[in-house]
Amino acid sequence: MSEPVNVWDYEALAAERLEAGAHGYYAGGAGDELTLGENVEAYRRWQLRPRLLVDVAGCSTATTVLGHDVSMPLLVAPVAFQRVAHPDGEVGMARAAKEVGTIMCLSTIATTPPAEVAATGAPRWFQLYVFRDEGVTRDLIAQARDNGFTALLLTVDAPVRGNRERDLRTGFAIPDGVHVASMGRGGVTPKEVFDMVTPSLTWRDLERISSEAGLPLLVKGILTAEDALLSVEHGAAGIVVSNHGGRQLDGVSATIDALPEVVEAVAGRIEVLVDGGIRRGTDVVKALALGAQAVLAGRAPLWGLTVDGEAGARRVLELLREEILTALQLIGATSPSDVTRTHIQRARAQ
Ligand code: FNR
Ligand code: LAC
Repeated sequence: MSEPVNVWDYEALAAERLEAGAHGYYAGGAGDELTLGENVEAYRRWQLRPRLLVDVAGCSTATTVLGHDVSMPLLVAPVAFQRVAHPDGEVGMARAAKEVGTIMCLSTIATTPPAEVAATGAPRWFQLYVFRDEGVTRDLIAQARDNGFTALLLTVDAPVRGNRERDLRTGFAIPDGVHVASMGRGGVTPKEVFDMVTPSLTWRDLERISSEAGLPLLVKGILTAEDALLSVEHGAAGIVVSNHGGRQLDGVSATIDALPEVVEAVAGRIEVLVDGGIRRGTDVVKALALGAQAVLAGRAPLWGLTVDGEAGARRVLELLREEILTALQLIGATSPSDVTRTHIQRARAQ
């Protein structure tokens, strides 16, 4: 293949590079993978409404997320076990995020300790799974705070593991030589990780976790207006509309279709982000038009990391930033904050 020019090219190259178990784990979803497919497909059912004859010469993709300056409205989503994709792992991903000017979200079940990611100097948020063992959770929160992570992403859509049949077939496990920092060893399976996560977390725990950490908390995994309102009531600083990249409950709606009801319920009180299915700059602009402050991308930069380590992850993020810039200019916006609900409509009959 010639030089990859978009996320799809990186996805195809990554599929060639990865062994079957790792590829199934990264690419796969839960059950019949209906939601996995929907996340991508649903973007095609929304269409942009461009406004023309606007001076877009000075257009910039820069924006803010929870008060942080970022070069574009796209952050790196927390994705587990990145050193299985490439030896550069989470450090490579963090450096890529830093070079491009965006935030790296580090997974609780990373293959690199928080201190090593902090040493890259990348702007960083920490994704939290709450373990059954309160001591482990406390230690994770302390590591996040002490290492300069500026927000917690509390993932709430995984009290138990989704039904990942690709992993059942391949028996995917993390190679022994790759250490999962929060578990203190290698050779673990995703199932073993989830067995350590508590299925008993409730809304009452939210404020306590946030105040113990002394960090703003974003609730990741919200899909309904009801839970959006509860997030606001319980002091969340933000919401990530997410279905975990189709990996948890199969049969839920695409995140881009869930976004409008969440945005409406929140009514501007806290920031709303969205992830799932972002493969193009135009997807990002559609999410902005439906009220997201920014998006997170999981698999897209992961495919870049797989293909070419830090340089590949950086290239994917740069490609997306270039695509976002072009899309903004072509809809007649000079910045992400210019994009409004008038810039999007449901696709006309197909
Ligand atoms: C994830 N995701 C995830 N989320 C989380 O909160 N903690 C985690 O450890 C992981 N791990 C993880 C591993 C892999 C391989 C994938 C693909 C995803 C979910 C992730 O943060 C995000 O919600 C989705 O990846 C978004 O969908 P896209 O961008 O991959 O389509
Ligand atoms: C996953 C977990 C680790 O999606 O969040 O595999």
